[in-house]
Amino acid sequence: MNKNNVTRRQFITAASAGTIAAVASRAIPAYGNLGKKAGKLAIHGGQPVRTKSWPSWPIWDKSAEESIRSVLRSGIWCRLGGTKVSEFEKMYAELMGVKRCLATASGTTALLVAMHVLGIDAGDEIIVSPYTFIATYNVVFLTKALPVFADTDPETFQINPDKIEERINENTRAILPVHILGLPANMDKIIAIAKKHNLLVIEDACQAWMAEWRGKKCGTLGDLGCFSFQNSKHLPAGEGGAIVGDDDEIMDRCYAFHNCGRPYRSVKRTSSYPVRGSNRRMQEFQAVILMSQMKRLEKDTQTRNENAHYLTSKIKDIPGIIPHKLYEQVTRAAYHLYPFRYKKEHFNNAPRSRFLAALSAEGIPCSGGYGPQYKDGLVEDALNSRGYKKLYSKERLNRYRQELHYPDNDQLCQEAVWFSQRLLLATKTDMDDIADAILKIYENRDKLA
Ligand SMILES: Cc1ncc(COP(=O)(O)O)c(C=O)c1O
Repeated sequence: MNKNNVTRRQFITAASAGTIAAVASRAIPAYGNLGKKAGKLAIHGGQPVRTKSWPSWPIWDKSAEESIRSVLRSGIWCRLGGTKVSEFEKMYAELMGVKRCLATASGTTALLVAMHVLGIDAGDEIIVSPYTFIATYNVVFLTKALPVFADTDPETFQINPDKIEERINENTRAILPVHILGLPANMDKIIAIAKKHNLLVIEDACQAWMAEWRGKKCGTLGDLGCFSFQNSKHLPAGEGGAIVGDDDEIMDRCYAFHNCGRPYRSVKRTSSYPVRGSNRRMQEFQAVILMSQMKRLEKDTQTRNENAHYLTSKIKDIPGIIPHKLYEQVTRAAYHLYPFRYKKEHFNNAPRSRFLAALSAEGIPCSGGYGPQYKDGLVEDALNSRGYKKLYSKERLNRYRQELHYPDNDQLCQEAVWFSQRLLLATKTDMDDIADAILKIYENRDKLA
């Protein structure tokens, strides 16, 4: 029997008795007695499951304050002439297990530099997941290339690797896998497809610090990997980013490009500015904040993983709640967000917005995550621009428009529920509050719609 076919009475009997007795061949485990947490939903004026606050983010210590003050007093705030950004780059490369790291002003700029240096240009097509932060779309459009979407796998929330090959044509230059929510994409399949079709792989690991695929860090599996250190991120510096890679010549070109196109090591001094460039440099202040934040990254990653796995074990059998799946090759996730799918047919057809409101009222902050952004105005904004009209034929742009149809992604956008990483930094007992709140809503689903 499928878990979703367990009757309400069977489920409540097992849950409220607090027994682990099976109610069906696919047993619903005991959630513990909801006790005082049972009763009227908070959204209807009942007592919330939780009134305690959650960990806030970011978290810093006194040593960070001292390092920032010392950079300030030195008067060397730019990496040119300073040592802090280079120091951070060395530490981050070591942590990632790669030869080189280049720090940048943000994750977006890291992606832009990587794309430029790997030769992505006008007319190229880049295969990417529609289910990502909008920056991933934007960097492709800013390069005057076309982001060609491969539909999302709703189970893993990642690009569906089995939908990639059908999107490849003579214009395809690269696959841009995003380890979205900090959960690794299927890199075995992506790299195999890229090899077969001679494509570049640029990893958007902007949400995936310390995540691992077969023991190797996400961001180090493709040609180049990009990270973000924006304020909400697990390694935060307000803003910031990095590119990592093992190829010295490519990394030298990244450095030169991010520093206005000045010569750098193998990028030889044929003139003051031998190549095109931009200013994408990180500041010394950002680097000292990052070095102090790095001290907590390993421990925090462990805590997030332990709590995420525990939470999954607590909610996986609640009818209508489908936790995300990790591929078996994932040795560790980053859990920038904790996602699951909400199936309204098991909650008296109450729309997801109602479930989210009920869960928030129980003291559990949550959100519905990304919408189907490929339908957002920015896609047409790019296609209708003077540049795109010059660079692409009308037929090609129309064909592109007609292909913008990703049903699995759209379904996921309607069903997803996310918890922020900061909730996962709390304790196991706090995870019980999350599970209890979901269970309470399930038990009261008759009054939810
Ligand atoms: C998946 C993804 N890609 C790219 C970015 C861009 O990074 P930044 O905000 O540092 O420019 C982000 C940031 O949230 C992201 O989540």
